[in-house]
Amino acid sequence: MGRIPQEIIDQVLDRTDIVEVVSDRIQVKKAGRSFKACCPFHNEKTPSFIVSPEKQIFHCFGCGAGGNAIGFVMKYENMEFPEAVRILAAKAGVDIPRYEQRDAERDSIAARLYEINRLAAAFYQNALRSEGGRKALEYLKGRGMNSDAMNEFRVGYAPDEWEALRRYCEKKNVPPDLLRKAGLTIPSTKGKGDYDKFRNRIMFPIFNERGNIVAFGGRVLDDSQPKYMNSPETPIYNKSNVLYGLNSGKKSIREKGRAVIVEGYTDVIMPFQYGVTNLVAASGTALTSGQVRLLKKYSDTAVMVFDADQAGEAASLRGLDILLESGMNVKIAALPEGEDPDSYVRKNGKEGFEQALDNAKGLFEYKLDLLIEKLGERDIGGIADEMLPTISRINNAVVQSDHIRRLAERLGVHEASLRYEMGKVKPDYSYHYESEVKIDGDPRNYRSSEIHLLGLAISDRKMFKRLSEELGLGMFRDIKVSRVLGVVGDCYREDSGSINPGKLISRLEGDEGAKAAVVQALAKLDITKDREKALNDCMTCVRREARDEKLKELSVRLKKAQDKNDDPEIRSILEKINRIHKEKVI
Ligand code: CTP
Ligand code: MN
Repeated sequence: MGRIPQEIIDQVLDRTDIVEVVSDRIQVKKAGRSFKACCPFHNEKTPSFIVSPEKQIFHCFGCGAGGNAIGFVMKYENMEFPEAVRILAAKAGVDIPRYEQRDAERDSIAARLYEINRLAAAFYQNALRSEGGRKALEYLKGRGMNSDAMNEFRVGYAPDEWEALRRYCEKKNVPPDLLRKAGLTIPSTKGKGDYDKFRNRIMFPIFNERGNIVAFGGRVLDDSQPKYMNSPETPIYNKSNVLYGLNSGKKSIREKGRAVIVEGYTDVIMPFQYGVTNLVAASGTALTSGQVRLLKKYSDTAVMVFDADQAGEAASLRGLDILLESGMNVKIAALPEGEDPDSYVRKNGKEGFEQALDNAKGLFEYKLDLLIEKLGERDIGGIADEMLPTISRINNAVVQSDHIRRLAERLGVHEASLRYEMGKVKPDYSYHYESEVKIDGDPRNYRSSEIHLLGLAISDRKMFKRLSEELGLGMFRDIKVSRVLGVVGDCYREDSGSINPGKLISRLEGDEGAKAAVVQALAKLDITKDREKALNDCMTCVRREARDEKLKELSVRLKKAQDKNDDPEIRSILEKINRIHKEKVI
């Protein structure tokens, strides 16, 4: 039994009234345009639970619960998503055909994009074996990659031409706009038609969990820059929700009971060739919670492989807390100076590589050792400041308690005093070195202006348009908000009408944080009088924050440069700081 197609879910929601669904189960009272009740999800005497018939959502101002009709049934009846849909479908008289999935998908845009990517991958694979691809093939062979590995990962080559793929696809009757939508071509500014995005590059198709190609990474054949070029985000590719290698590695991840997280494409492929197959790569980004969620379906244990530089950097610890929070057991394997998994497995073979994995340290030990090395044994305050937030993110109380005990032992302080300090750790604590990382914390700590902008974007197509044109969707730092904005954009593109928030939420199934963001955004919208003004004010706020962030980063760099007496660097940074101060934010 596959997933229930979105069309069916939409149909169910179309024919369902959330007010009915809720009032079948608890007592509600009309209050203006909405309905009120005592929240069934927490204990209360005065009602703070609101059901909105217009928006088709519920929201509790007390405990923060919220969602659409499906979400209500799931929570109230303690059901999984498909079961809740089925119950509502039965009531609404919507038939859920058992094998509908394939038909529905065939027509959808996603299915067409998968098909185009498959075609492109085959084209690139062929090109690698053709005359024009000889240099590329030699390059790969020179790196030690064999044909089996190339075939398994469908490695290919994008010819050194401007329109090779475009012309090939034309012959296959692929509509040019779809090719562009897949991120494979770029419109020419001189009106000469589209040209290929990837040229003269080794091509690594990126598969999703189910084996569809969602994007490509393309590597140059020499040392030129940029080394890698990747597909843009498309309707089927959100890079924070894809793990390279998961499709080929998932079986062995499950069997071995552990996933190995590496950095790059070749770091997945080369160990695979040597027989270590339980690997995935985050592909050059810090691990996101979406990626962790994917991984967790297959294993509760992850070993992160770092190279020597990273291993010594506190910054490499980002992403680890996300793993911890999700209840994963995290270990760190550090490779010697200058090695990455690709080079290491070639030198040391399967056994050597697996040895390095077996020697991995637990996150707790790893981080503590690193801090002691950096700050010194005696900086108890500094060490505790960094360790306690990490420990507070561990979801298992027994493990947490054990870690506090061990930390107290290592630092030679009383356990009770650490526990006291731990009580003061704020849930939204984020590390100072995490400033480049997108925030992905407790939904209640979402930054207010971003949430507000999200609400405005949902309320009106024009606002969304202004937001993307005047501010740019890339300015959003909260990854939940930016995920939802992506989906909002899809909704506007697919449908000329306005957005039904209940349906929007159904497109975010499985991402509780994103759903919560929608509910909060709509709550903000409810109390907004002048939407134009709110839009302008919030955009200014976001810009200002981005600027402050930049200034903070520059001042850190300035301090480093001053420590090193690096005069040219100091001058260049000061100049940048000056320029930023001169720019007007509004
Ligand atoms: N990456 C990227 N864009 C870049 C550089 C890196 O997307 N400009 C991503 C790629 O997914 C790459 C990963 O980050 O695989 C790791 O980068 P790096 O270690 O530089 O590359 P390797 O994978 O080791 O590639 P190679 O061994 O071919 O140099
Ligand atoms: Mn490498």
